[in-house]
Amino acid sequence: MSSRSLARWASATASLKLRFQLDHSMGADQYQVAASDFVRERLCAGADRPTKLTSHKMSISFTAHNIRLDDGTFTKPDEASIDQQPWFVSARRILQTIYPTDRQKIRIADLGCLEGGYSVEFARMGFDVVGIEIRDNNFATCNFVKSKTKLPNLKFEQNDAWNLPSYGKFDVVFCAGLLYHMDTPKQFLEMISSVTSRMIILQTHFATTDDKINKFDLSPLCEHEGLRGRWYTEFADDAVFNAREEARWASWDNRRSFWIQREFLLQAIRNVDFDVVLEQFDWLGEETARNMLDGYYHTDTRGTFIGIKAGATT
Ligand SMILES: C[S@@+](CC[C@H](N)C(=O)[O-])C[C@H]1O[C@@H](n2cnc3c(N)ncnc32)[C@H](O)[C@@H]1O
Repeated sequence: MSSRSLARWASATASLKLRFQLDHSMGADQYQVAASDFVRERLCAGADRPTKLTSHKMSISFTAHNIRLDDGTFTKPDEASIDQQPWFVSARRILQTIYPTDRQKIRIADLGCLEGGYSVEFARMGFDVVGIEIRDNNFATCNFVKSKTKLPNLKFEQNDAWNLPSYGKFDVVFCAGLLYHMDTPKQFLEMISSVTSRMIILQTHFATTDDKINKFDLSPLCEHEGLRGRWYTEFADDAVFNAREEARWASWDNRRSFWIQREFLLQAIRNVDFDVVLEQFDWLGEETARNMLDGYYHTDTRGTFIGIKAGATT
C-alpha cells in the first residue's frame, strides 16, 4: 500500500472534531443500509487502494445531493431534487445546446462528484459519464446510488481528480465546487484542458478586488501562478487535516486553496486553450440583477464559467 493510501486510510478512521469554514454543513440524511460488504468489494478492486475490511455497517449519508433513485425514493428528500437545482439546470441547458442529440458517445467527467447526483443526471441525459471522487464515504455513497439506478453509461472511480488523464480523453469536463479547493488552480485547469476536446463547465467561487467582501476569511489579494487571487484556509491545523476524510466537502491534499480573481479566471480559461469563454448567468433566474448586486452572487462570489474549444471536431 502506498504512503498516500496509508495516509488516506489513517484519516478515514480518525474521529476528531473538525472546524469547517466552508461547505461543511453536514445535514446528512442517513441511508441505513448494509453497505459494508458493498464498500469492501469496491475498495478491494483497485491495487493502490486500502483494503478496507470493515466489520461495522457503514451508513450511507447524503450531505447535499437529493437524487431520485429508480424505485422513486429520494436520497435527501428535504431538499429540491438535484435535477431541479439551478446549477444543474444551467449545466443541462448548455449541454443540450451543444449536444442536442446523439449523446451516447459523448464522454463527461464529473470531478469531485461527492454523492454522484450530477453524474446520475448527466447519465440520464444519455451521456457516457465518469464521476471521480477521492473520499471513501463519498465514493461509497456514489456506488450506493449506482446500485439503485440502472445506468450502464455511468461509472464512478475513487481517485484524485489530478489523475483525470488516466481515464483518457473527455468531450466535457464538469467541475463544480472543486477548483476553489485547489492550491494550484491554474495547473489544474491546464490538466483539464489537456484531456478535454470540447467544453469545460466550471462552477466555482472566485476572488474579487473588494476587501469588504470577505465571508470566507480570505487573504489579502496577492499573486500566485501568475494570477491574482486570495488564499483560503482549508484545514486550520494538523488535527483537522488528519481527519480530512470526515470533511466531506473539503480539499484533499492541500491545506489551503487559491481562489482566482474573477477577471483572471476568465483569462486563465482562455489561456488554457478554450477559444470561447463565457460566464453563464441563467442559474440566477429571475433574480439575476439583485443576486449580482447584493445577493448570493455578490456575497459568495460564485459563478458558472464555460470554456469551449470552437475548433474541436468531436
Ligand atoms: C464542495 S464539494 C463539491 C461536490 C460536487 N461537485 C457538487 O458540486 O455538489 C468538493 C468535492 O470534491 C471532492 N474532492 C476534493 N478534492 C478532491 C480531489 N483532489 N480529487 C477528487 N475529489 C476531490 C470532495 O471530496 C467533495 O466531494
